[in-house]
Amino acid sequence: MDILDSIEAMQAWRRSLPNDARVGFAPTMGNLHAGHISLIDQATQESDRVVASIFVNPMQFGANEDLEAYPRTMAADLEKLEAAGTAAVFIPTIDDIYPEGIDQHTAVEVPGLTDVLCGASRAGHFKGVTTVVSKLFGAVRPDVAVFGAKDLQQVLVIKKMVRDLLLPTDIVTVPTMRETDGLAMSSRNGYLTPAERQLAPRFSQALADCAEAIENDHSAVEVSLNTARDALTDHGFKIDYLEARRTFDLSLATKVDEEIALFGAVYLGKTRLIDNRVISPS
Ligand code: PAF
Repeated sequence: MDILDSIEAMQAWRRSLPNDARVGFAPTMGNLHAGHISLIDQATQESDRVVASIFVNPMQFGANEDLEAYPRTMAADLEKLEAAGTAAVFIPTIDDIYPEGIDQHTAVEVPGLTDVLCGASRAGHFKGVTTVVSKLFGAVRPDVAVFGAKDLQQVLVIKKMVRDLLLPTDIVTVPTMRETDGLAMSSRNGYLTPAERQLAPRFSQALADCAEAIENDHSAVEVSLNTARDALTDHGFKIDYLEARRTFDLSLATKVDEEIALFGAVYLGKTRLIDNRVISPS
């Protein structure tokens, strides 16, 4: 596996490939778990050579968020990527990505879809995501890039960015990987105390129960959401949001008239967890 620790090294590696080589890309912030490896596996199926990136992107963290605390586990990450058959890993520095600082960098912003859910709770978050992803795409020039469905709003935002800017990269969504008790895999699960970790699967369970109730009665969206909100609050979660929205445009849904998703973000102690369930009309 080639380690590319600068933009120049990444670009030289990309130029060295045959013109017809299809490149798959899995952008990550490191601290890799089985969910990330499923991204590498999917990218392997979609391409001839897979590049992963590891970059904890300061631009997508708010002032009071966990940038400093975000787990950095480079040696273990590289072992996992190599074992998964990754061809190259791109590890740029902050100066590489933001040579004149974040404020002086050209920003990429997707309107509309970023006004709600995590965009409403985390000001500037998606601007940081779309800016870094477009820069990483510029360095890697991927034919296909893979993103996890746990961050469904992020996937929808990136798909719109790619559509609007005519970027020559196919975006593939990879299903959420879950622990055996249903908790969606996330680097932030490591912040949970043992007691919180025991409680955490009640979040995915509440979403699953809510989805099942709505699947059984397509008009029972609001009542089912309220039941889930009450269950979560009773178990000690602090709800940031729990909403049903159309996956097409993230408008609020009160019935299943087209594909919708239940989007949830909750706090358990200091840890913020997100998850979602998609419900189709048929
Ligand atoms: O999903 C993530 O880990 C990050 O938002 C991403 C896509 C790597 C951009 O920093």
